Amino acid sequence: MEVAKTIESIRRLVGTARSRGKKIGLVPTMGALHIGHISLIEAAVKECDFVVVSIFVNPTQFVPGEDLEKYPRPLEADLKICRNAGVDAVFAPTPEQIYPGENLTWVNVEKLTEPLCGQFRPGHFRGVTTVCAKLFNIVAPDIAFFGQKDAQQAIVIKRMAADLNMPLEIVICPTVREPDGLAVSSRNQYLTAEQRKDAAYVYKSLQKCRQMIDAGIADTRKIAVEMRKILQQASSIKIEYVSIVDAETLQNIDRIAGKVLAAVAVGIGPARLIDNILVDAGKQ
Ligand code: PAJ
Repeated sequence: MEVAKTIESIRRLVGTARSRGKKIGLVPTMGALHIGHISLIEAAVKECDFVVVSIFVNPTQFVPGEDLEKYPRPLEADLKICRNAGVDAVFAPTPEQIYPGENLTWVNVEKLTEPLCGQFRPGHFRGVTTVCAKLFNIVAPDIAFFGQKDAQQAIVIKRMAADLNMPLEIVICPTVREPDGLAVSSRNQYLTAEQRKDAAYVYKSLQKCRQMIDAGIADTRKIAVEMRKILQQASSIKIEYVSIVDAETLQNIDRIAGKVLAAVAVGIGPARLIDNILVDAGKQ
C-alpha cells in the first residue's frame, strides 16, 4: 500500500493504475477509522480494482466552536486498518495541500443543505461539498463511496455530482451499528460509560418510528412526540432535532407516504451524534 501526502503523488499513483485499465474507487474519510469506514472500504475493494482512501480532517466543514482541534488523528492505526483491508493507496494531505491560500471558490448545494443539520451547522455542507469536489478532481475516481449514516451528506453529494456533471458514480452503503444499535462513529469515543449507555436511545427512538409507521400511523407529529419521549428517558441526551422528512427533498411532511427519512441529532456530553433510518411506507 502506498501513502501519498501530496496531490502530485496521489495523481501519479492513480494515473498509473488508470493507464493499466483499472477501475478506481475512492473512500473519503476524516480518519479515526472504524468498522463503519471499513464497510465502505470493503464495498470499494469488491467493486473496484484500485482503491484510494483519503484521510483528511477538513477544517472548512467544522463550524467555529466545534471539535476541529480535538478530532482524533490516529494516522498509524488508520494506515494499518487500510493495509489489512486491501487498500491500494492512502491520500493523507496536510491542510496546506488542500487549502494553499485563501479559498475563493466554493461548491454550494442549495435547498437540500437547509433543513436538518444545515440549520444547526451553518456552512458545514459548503465545506463538505467543496472538499469532496476537490477530492474528486484530485483522485478522479470512477466510484466514490459514502455512508447512509450521514444521510443528508450522501444526498447532497449525490446532487452535487449530478448537477455539476461529475463523471463518477456515488454509492451509498448501509449504516454499521454496535450490538445495541448505536451507529458506529469516530465521535462515540468522546462518551463516558454512562453517556455511551444513553446513546443507545437514539436508535431506540428510530425503531419506535419504524414500529409506528408499520402499525399504520401516518401523523408525523404524533410519531415525533413518541420519539422524543424515548430520547428523554436518557438523562444526558439533549435533543437537537427529531425530523421526519421526504427522503428525496428532505422537506418536512405532515403525513407518512412513500420513502421517508427519520433523522435524529442529539448532544450527549461533548459529542454531537446523528442517526437516521429510511422507511419505505408505500402509499398509506
Ligand atoms: P467521516 O465522518 O470520517 O466519514 C467518512 C464516511 O464514512 C462517510 O461517508 C460516512 O457516512 C461513513 N460512515 C461513518 N460512520 C459510518 C457507519 N457507522 N456506517 C456506515 N458508514 C459510516 O463524513 C465525513 O468523514 C466527511 O464529511 C467527508 C465526507 C470525508 C468530507 O470531509
